[in-house]
Amino acid sequence: MIHGGKPLRGSVSPSGSKNASVAILPAALLSEEKVAIENLPDIRDVHVLENILRALGARIEYSPGQMTVDSRSVESCVACEELTSQMRASYYLLGAMLGRFGEARIAMPGGCKIGARPIDQHLKGMEALGADIELTDTEVIARAHGGRLKGAEVYFDIVSVGATANVLMAAARAVGRTTIVNAAKEPHIVDLANFLNSMGANIKGAGTDVIRVNGVDSLHASTYAVIPDQIETGTFMIAGAATGGDVTVTNVIPTHMESMTAKLEEMGVFIEEGEDSIRVVGTGRHRGTSVRTMPYPGFPTDLMQPLSALMALATTRSRIEENIFENRFMHFDALRSMGAQIRVIQPGRVAEIDGVPKLHGAEVIASDLRAGAALVIAGLAAEGETLIGGLTHIDRGYDHLEDKMRALGADIQRIRR
Ligand code: EPZ
Repeated sequence: MIHGGKPLRGSVSPSGSKNASVAILPAALLSEEKVAIENLPDIRDVHVLENILRALGARIEYSPGQMTVDSRSVESCVACEELTSQMRASYYLLGAMLGRFGEARIAMPGGCKIGARPIDQHLKGMEALGADIELTDTEVIARAHGGRLKGAEVYFDIVSVGATANVLMAAARAVGRTTIVNAAKEPHIVDLANFLNSMGANIKGAGTDVIRVNGVDSLHASTYAVIPDQIETGTFMIAGAATGGDVTVTNVIPTHMESMTAKLEEMGVFIEEGEDSIRVVGTGRHRGTSVRTMPYPGFPTDLMQPLSALMALATTRSRIEENIFENRFMHFDALRSMGAQIRVIQPGRVAEIDGVPKLHGAEVIASDLRAGAALVIAGLAAEGETLIGGLTHIDRGYDHLEDKMRALGADIQRIRR
């Protein structure tokens, strides 16, 4: 429940990156020694992975923000289906278990409603490393020739965060050298590579189009802290602008936010960058802009939905071009019910938003994770009361979002109906 119209003021820190955490936790299976991971966000996806690792036989100690994983006792490589089917990022267990055990069986990952989300590039990469892949209608079964993967050249037809991370994990313990060409460059890819190197892997070039991996025979213990969440940071920046507030997001890496900062400045939002902080001063109504979602360092598709809430209040027309997923406009109807003027030019690809002076509260349902973030921002900026359902989507990727917003002055409560 949100009573909107209150400018957000003060400072807030994001939690650790969800998309780095869901890759780093499976990657802990690659080490035969105990690994400690810090700055983990307290979100559902992390707890689902915690349960999957326990089900595989790993000894886990969890306290908010940190988890130790001791996978010495893990021998099975069959990730339990009912758990792995609960989240998309379970496909990372494929690379981690192939790298560690030379074999893996996981449930076919579901697609989130934002698109088909095939895994052909993941499988192409594993086959290049010498794995035989068998697909049933519910499972992916993979076995390395001769029991261990061999380094190879892996060329991705499409830039894929998941496929890049998955192959990176598998290659870390393959025999010989792997070159990944057309790799994703997201901050969470670099974070995964740094984590693997902290355990003794030999990876160079993460963050560029070409990543070189020299496989090693074993990985050792490590204590590693996950980077701050780039998408959560962007969500707070947009909320500060949309509510006409003055919000400083602290403990961030400003270079990870460059495309977000540039877009907000184009819209006339005042941004002040510090060493590890970004201050946003908004007026609620800014100039419209155009945005084209692209792989990093382009504008992230995950922030397109939250940005559309700010565009809905702009003084001029905005244009959105969604180039990564096929169906990421599902939140438009909910925004329209709050008064937004949105026209879809090409379904799932191109839309135009004519800003309105005010949005009004409504009862809406979040269709997916970042749609939920967009509706929270719209509710905070709108006049009157907004009731948002579908919080399980938000809880998958945001760590106590309403508490953080309330600390900034928002009138927001989680209620039971
Ligand atoms: C990751 O998804 C993120 N999820 C997504 O964040 C994010 O939107 C996306 O990267 C892009 O940045 C996690 O990291 C857990 P992709 P992923 O592989 O890995 C196509 C969020 O809100 N593709 O880079 O699935 C795919 O269909 C979530 O936090 C293939 O065709 O994204 C998409 O159109 C949502 N074949 C495009 O590539 C493949 O084998 C980019 O997907 C793999 C992907």
